[in-house]
Amino acid sequence: MAGREAAVLVQEPITPSDSNPHHLIPNTNPLESIVAVDEEIPIIDYAKLFSDDLDERSTALQHLSKACEEYGFFNLVNHPVPDNVIECTLKKIADHFRETEAEEKQKYLKKSSQDTVVFGLNSYACENREFAKMVVHPENHCPPDHCYREALEEYMKGMEEVKLGLARAISKILGQEETYIEDVFDLKRGFDVASLNVYPPCFNSKSFMGLPTHTDPGFCVSLVQDVNGGLRILTHQGKWISVSIPPSAILIQLGDHLEVLTNGKFKSHLHYVMVAKNKVQRISLATLHGPSLDTFVSPAPEFVDEHRPPAYRAMTYRQALETNGNDPIDMTTALEHLR
Ligand code: SIN
Ligand code: FE2
Repeated sequence: MAGREAAVLVQEPITPSDSNPHHLIPNTNPLESIVAVDEEIPIIDYAKLFSDDLDERSTALQHLSKACEEYGFFNLVNHPVPDNVIECTLKKIADHFRETEAEEKQKYLKKSSQDTVVFGLNSYACENREFAKMVVHPENHCPPDHCYREALEEYMKGMEEVKLGLARAISKILGQEETYIEDVFDLKRGFDVASLNVYPPCFNSKSFMGLPTHTDPGFCVSLVQDVNGGLRILTHQGKWISVSIPPSAILIQLGDHLEVLTNGKFKSHLHYVMVAKNKVQRISLATLHGPSLDTFVSPAPEFVDEHRPPAYRAMTYRQALETNGNDPIDMTTALEHLR
């Protein structure tokens, strides 16, 4: 991976109008004018979360707790997905997009709400991204003839372990039984969608937006990329930061439905992607790990009391994904629909 991206300094920053960053959802926002600063983000050592050494384990869990409560995202290191699997998956994705004819891509343009694989090419003012989204869990719907399939399967095998491990660790820091999140979200039947993204380098100055501002639904999102830089996240302090993902790390972002379940204790954070200016393309693989579609998600009684009334609406995960008239694979809930 390349070195970290330099901060972009253009005009005045846009700052949130109040302490809740979710109220800042700019649709046609001139995000390129935002000042994004480089900032170290929390690093969580996955293996230490399960260490036999009690002190080591409890220190790692404390770090995780702080990262979840304050940031809502962190770089995960020392995890069970081998480096060569990440590298190979990203390379095969790049090969696939480069070598696949337009006709083959057309086959996967969205046709119905039942689609399990969708290809899209958005190349206009507010988005410069080519993507393929596919349901990868509980069943893998990756097209069998696509060259990245084997690598993606290997990657997903590791990610399944990471997802369940993180669910156990996060349950613990919430003061619950180890299997709490796995059970409440029915994660063994969880609805996971992989989004394979290609952000082309941008040579005109009209827009450098790769993906506009949003939060992600579900329990959490895992993200790997081949070129560092591009992703910006709004922190709890209302500051946009350029996120750097060290080689071998997986960026974890908490999802909207963990925010709903915990009644706002652990928040999902707004983010967007800028494309590189006159540089190389960027490939990313973002996997949204969700509850099963029929799971009814609401603020849990454990996180509700007279001082903290339920701040979100209760609905099934499917209903949440379908708000806005979208289909589940679009994975575009908007947190404001859940309030
Ligand atoms: C996403 O937010 O869904 C993708 C982010 C990225 O490509 O960095
Ligand atoms: Fe996202």
